[in-house]
Amino acid sequence: MYFKDMHILSMKDFSKEMIDHILETAEKLEPIAVMKERSDMLAGKVLAVLFFEPSTRTRMSFETAMLRLGGAVLSMGSVDASSIAKGETLADTIRVVQSYADTIVLRHPKEGAARMASEFSQVPVINAGDGAGHHPTQTLLDLYTIKRESKLEGVRIALAGDLKYGRTVHSLCYALAHYGADITLVSPDGLRMPYEIIKDLEARGMKVRQTDSIDEAITEVDVLYVTRIQKERFPDPAEYLRVASSLQITPELLENAKSHLKIMHPLPRVNEIDPLVDNTSHACYFKQAFYGVPVRMALLALVMGGME
Ligand code: NCD
Repeated sequence: MYFKDMHILSMKDFSKEMIDHILETAEKLEPIAVMKERSDMLAGKVLAVLFFEPSTRTRMSFETAMLRLGGAVLSMGSVDASSIAKGETLADTIRVVQSYADTIVLRHPKEGAARMASEFSQVPVINAGDGAGHHPTQTLLDLYTIKRESKLEGVRIALAGDLKYGRTVHSLCYALAHYGADITLVSPDGLRMPYEIIKDLEARGMKVRQTDSIDEAITEVDVLYVTRIQKERFPDPAEYLRVASSLQITPELLENAKSHLKIMHPLPRVNEIDPLVDNTSHACYFKQAFYGVPVRMALLALVMGGME
């Protein structure tokens, strides 16, 4: 398996073998993420982080992953403080930054931005979210979480919330297709999974069910993956208000769930999960956010040649 210099753009580019290799590498690196071991595997390497949209976990877990492997981090800072504010194009920004760093992590509001950026970069570009498109590194940490906290092969999973604009669920579906997952999609009418994605999944031999009833879906699954309604992507604010509180996971709703059910959420949550759920054995979202560190360590180590 050879990941060195590979751009990480979409889960569609990954075979099952590739995903498994990344997850196994993450497992090996976890002792470094929890500071039981130290490493200078990426000493002398520089990671550039370019975020054109807000982020807490993705950005900070990439930064800590790089620092814990002994590398350095170079940040563009806020868009307002960079030359973007003067009208510089993404292509020009990438042409320059790729000459300063060994890998670029990019988050951008436009779908396809990371793939476009990769065409202007000699160093690997890692997609940290491109509009409503893809979020492959989130998917890898989601898979790692499912593997560690539930079971990946044949998992029964419900994806609930904003399936139209939520990029994390778009990427996750493609990856789950490799593991024989049984997927139920739960969303209000206006926020259904795009038809092209459903068609793609069915062509990959996946059974996909769609419903608007969380009550029923929650009784049958091993994992419930909840997403935030992506307010910033709605063309019409009135439409957002119509669906804004269409889903909330509460302790009462969980009374009918399987005892081993794990609830995941890429975070940030707004009001999709009642904070009272946090102290139940089902809550898995903060652990999930931690798993971003070993998984992003694995990706950085692999694309920069620290490991094979
Ligand atoms: C997600 C994103 O940016 O797509 N957040 C994350 O990366 N953990 C989910 C979201 O913003 O709702």
